[in-house]
Amino acid sequence: MRPAIIFGTRPEIIKLSPVIRAFLKKDVHPLIIHTGQHYDYEMSQVFLEELELPEIDYHLEVGSGTQAEQTGFAMIKIEKVLMEEKPDVSIVQGDTNTVLAGALASVKLLIPVAHVEAGLRSFDRTMPEEINRILADHASEVLFAPTLEAKNNLEKEGIREGVYVVGNTIVDAVLQNSEIADRKSKILSKLGLEPKEYILVTAHRKENVDNRDRLERLVDILTSLPLPVVYPVHPRAEKRLKEFGLWKRLESNENIILTKPLGYLDFLKLEKNAKIIMTDSGGIQEEAIILGVPCLTLRYNTERPETIKAGGNVLVGVEKDLALMYVEKLLNDENFYRRMASARNPFGDGRAGERIVNILLALWEEGMLKVRSSNFIS
Ligand code: UD1
Ligand code: UDP
Repeated sequence: MRPAIIFGTRPEIIKLSPVIRAFLKKDVHPLIIHTGQHYDYEMSQVFLEELELPEIDYHLEVGSGTQAEQTGFAMIKIEKVLMEEKPDVSIVQGDTNTVLAGALASVKLLIPVAHVEAGLRSFDRTMPEEINRILADHASEVLFAPTLEAKNNLEKEGIREGVYVVGNTIVDAVLQNSEIADRKSKILSKLGLEPKEYILVTAHRKENVDNRDRLERLVDILTSLPLPVVYPVHPRAEKRLKEFGLWKRLESNENIILTKPLGYLDFLKLEKNAKIIMTDSGGIQEEAIILGVPCLTLRYNTERPETIKAGGNVLVGVEKDLALMYVEKLLNDENFYRRMASARNPFGDGRAGERIVNILLALWEEGMLKVRSSNFIS
């Protein structure tokens, strides 16, 4: 079998690395296509190096742009590669513009799409990611749902065939790299931090950082936190913080350490040792519960409700009073802290990559890996 792996952003590289590794173990060498949606060294290449991924076969250099520009350029360029290489399946992961472009370009060439992390829904159609998720799922033949909840979401939209609950590959990535991070990363001493004595923050979502009012409220929260704060800043956020004149407020605050986006090993080490994680990232909500660190999510909804139900995550939006109330409670109420920190990881056992590869190989051997002509939506 010749699978194509299509990725383009930081989380996709991280979450598809266990799938690539599992293929290589079976001596299957996937064709690797990088759209170049993320292109800075610290948003892309650092992960390819740290995760020891094979050489990229095609670098499409799509770069930044409007939603349609980015998706459209990516589609055009992916299509060219697929027409030449004719892989047996295209594997995409998550909800970025790269995923939508990869899925649409593939299915229209009758190359079946396997969607890793299928079935997530925030139920907020104003998010570009929600549109990407829905459309990618409906263009896919094989849908790897991380949880039963995700499978149920698909079922409610009429997608019942080709769905496999396999866990989330982020667990594999964390387990595969956690001990390496402990051994190799010197980030705590580099930043002068003590374990469990700081709050780790990330924020990059369009709805938070592209909106001046929301971003200002976020900065108000960060400048009021009672522990040292480390914030590795995503390039979208950096651009907006500077544009809205908010960067200096963060930079001049003695309690806040701003860094460039970090490599995976440094970031994992910071996550593991954080007292609290505050984030609007999808992947980081998952990693927090896997690593047993209480998470306060700087959003009003989440497509990872499993983390909330398990008790490891709370939505605080950019509501200062609410966010600070939870931070104080976590710092002052040991039982509450322990309860959040011991929430059960709902994303599986770290063998999702292996399952995905086994399922795809079995389908291919049975001649079932193809775009079905019948509409499987019932
Ligand atoms: C994208 C995904 C988002 C995901 C995030 C992961 C979509 C719609 N959004 O958001 O779901 O959570 O990736 O990090 O696909 N930029 C750089 N250097 C880079 C990459 C981006 O400077 O290497 C800057 C550019 O100014 C660009 C902006 O960041 O315009 C946004 O990048 P883009 O890829 O469009 O979206 P993300 O916010 O990264
Ligand atoms: N991450 C990283 N360095 C950073 C910030 C995040 O390695 O400075 C990793 C993090 O561990 C997680 C992934 O990037 O695995 C999350 O990506 P991001 O927040 O950009 O996207 P999302 O998950 O929200 O789509």
